[in-house]
Amino acid sequence: MSGGERGGPADAGRGYGHGKVILVGEHAVVYGHPAIAAGISAGIAAVARPGTGRLAVPAWGLDVAAGDGSEAGRALAAITRRLEAPGLDFVADAAIPSRAGLGSSAALAVAIARAAAAAGGRAEAYAAIAAAVAEAETVFHGNPSGIDAAAAASGRAGRFTRAEGWRPVPVFQTIRLCVGLSGRPRDTAAQVAAVARLRGRLPAADDVLRVLGRLAEDATAALAVGDVDGLGRIFDAAHGLLAALRLSGPELDAMVNGARAAGAIGAKLTGAGGGGAVIALAPGHERDVLARWREAGFGGFLAEIAATPGDGSGDAPGDGPGDAR
Ligand code: MEV
Repeated sequence: MSGGERGGPADAGRGYGHGKVILVGEHAVVYGHPAIAAGISAGIAAVARPGTGRLAVPAWGLDVAAGDGSEAGRALAAITRRLEAPGLDFVADAAIPSRAGLGSSAALAVAIARAAAAAGGRAEAYAAIAAAVAEAETVFHGNPSGIDAAAAASGRAGRFTRAEGWRPVPVFQTIRLCVGLSGRPRDTAAQVAAVARLRGRLPAADDVLRVLGRLAEDATAALAVGDVDGLGRIFDAAHGLLAALRLSGPELDAMVNGARAAGAIGAKLTGAGGGGAVIALAPGHERDVLARWREAGFGGFLAEIAATPGDGSGDAPGDGPGDAR
């Protein structure tokens, strides 16, 4: 790496990407149905400095060069090419684990793209940043819907479809979520491919995906009026349907059941499944849920989906790049 100390005068640009949780609609969104996701405050901060095209993420033990053949190196090359920002090195401070179902690759891509754009004096080139992030996500995940990238850029709650992209949704009251980490790495591309194979052998899988999309619409309504109980029922129904698509697993089921036993009113896997993360709604019992998971050997933390400020329309200042498709 070249340049000065972190945060020093040689910094050329900075960018932040949020981690995300999908509340409802993962996998369904790949097939054109809606999904509801939210950026969380924990995420990835990147600093760009003059350099030779390297990326280091110390928390993940990652150190790559643009175009070195590694996934991260190819994604970095795609971003710097799209944003016409060669000759930069990036150091990223990651407060979320990688491959855990929290959208780490999208958060990293958003952070780097924003830092690269800021370095070139184009911090508000939202369309170019979104295109660079989308290309990087293709390197990581094949043919992603784009929901992770949109949530990473927005940091708030939103409804996403392939046709309409990201639209902020109103949140009547702040929602506290327990986020549990199974410790089993998830592979989004493999899980998406598994659902595609299942559709070929089980036509009813399409009906299941459609109902997951319907639950996403119901979740939008529940968020708008602060119906936390309703949201809990939606989580439970969604987990059952995702399990029917063979997307759960022993750790995820144990965490969902453990959360319910500790007082959660609803719990589900979040993201691609197979491994990765779960989310639970447990008003007044959040610490019990986290303790139950800890006793069973699983990590976890609390995240908040912020209430919509102002007029309740769901629009918030600074959401511009959240329109990423
Ligand atoms: C992964 O976070 C969400 C999936 O729906 C894949 C995608 O939308 O690209 C499983």
